Amino acid sequence: MREKIEIIKEIYQLGDDLQQRKEALQKIAPYVEEIMEAFYEKLLQKPQIAVFIPLERIEELKKKQIKFLQDLLTMPFDENLYKRIAKVAIAHYHIKLDPLYMSYGYHVLSDLILAQSQKDPSLLPYLKLIIKYLKVAEAIMSEEYFAQKTLAESPYRANDLFVAINILHMAYVRCQDSFAKMAVDEEAKEMFEHSLQELQPYRRILEEAGFNLSAIKRFCTQFANEPNEQNLAHLRHSIERPLADLRVLAYLSIDSALALLRTMTDIIYRRNVTKEQRLDISTIKQTIRRLLSHNFGWAIERLDFFWEEPKEEYDIAKLLAYKDHIFYIAIDCADVANKLYVLESIDLILEAIKLTLYLRSKEEK
Ligand code: HEM
Repeated sequence: MREKIEIIKEIYQLGDDLQQRKEALQKIAPYVEEIMEAFYEKLLQKPQIAVFIPLERIEELKKKQIKFLQDLLTMPFDENLYKRIAKVAIAHYHIKLDPLYMSYGYHVLSDLILAQSQKDPSLLPYLKLIIKYLKVAEAIMSEEYFAQKTLAESPYRANDLFVAINILHMAYVRCQDSFAKMAVDEEAKEMFEHSLQELQPYRRILEEAGFNLSAIKRFCTQFANEPNEQNLAHLRHSIERPLADLRVLAYLSIDSALALLRTMTDIIYRRNVTKEQRLDISTIKQTIRRLLSHNFGWAIERLDFFWEEPKEEYDIAKLLAYKDHIFYIAIDCADVANKLYVLESIDLILEAIKLTLYLRSKEEK
């Protein structure tokens, strides 16, 4: 986060301007209500944006935005302000407001603020300073929106593996006749090779499950050139062994799936992470640790919490937020046979935890 702050300071040439910002806030204060009124009026005119605005909450949102503007103009530009802005980005991420629409919101707000100079031209330098800080907030919100999106889109696509395996299996079954006759059926060969080609995007994921596409291709060519028992045995071994392994893996995955369901029930139905009357970060961390150890202890090798993005590489690193606190959880999974599924399960669990923490933060406001 510190590096990001330095870069933003350089881009927007942020210096020692806290006093000027506070003065700017005083200057704009008499017009803020009116600006907010016009802001929502303008946003509601665009149907694609209006759908994001709950009409019954406009008064509450106006208050929150005014408070945000006050913080933006009265807090030093440091990690606390960055985190404050990042939290607002998370709120918009949860309602799935596209960054482009968010930019439109900033554009409307900036225009309305600048228009105040028509009433009093001496306001202009103050308004420009406010708009500069709105640009800063917009940049941080966009950055954090995408950071959230990257974190939320699980890279562990266990489902892709099933798709890939099915395609390969079907193509392999088509070749059985030519294996029985010990003669190459050109059509079946072409289909099989085509399926191997189609599997290329899943290459890495297949390798994790024991399928080596290059080896299969090599044995396939050898059998096509010389269809004999030995070459057939090699080809079969390169496909059938990993397929058998996969069946074992599938059973283990059912076990993981049950662990996932149990944990989800704990989080969503029993509200385990957020049910304490007085919630604080250390209680939250303890509960998360207990919950994950209880259900996935057999697979988790390392579980750490950080205030900053972890410097070391972990299998999973996720940002969690509760009220004004932001912290990271980082997890390494042991080299279990169904690691792929375990990672996706834990990732989903952390997403559910993140959502319940967000909802609890909102309830408490
Ligand atoms: C197209 C533009 C925008 C739309 C449709 C929009 C919509 C919303 C909605 C629906 C919420 C409530 C989220 C929730 O409680 O789950 C919200 C929260 C908020 N918005 Fe926006 N917003 C827009 C632009 C902006 C801009 C430009 C700013 C800042 C200058 C801003 C600042 C805030 C703040 C501070 C909150 C409260 C976040 C919190 O509860 O922590 N919004 N917005």
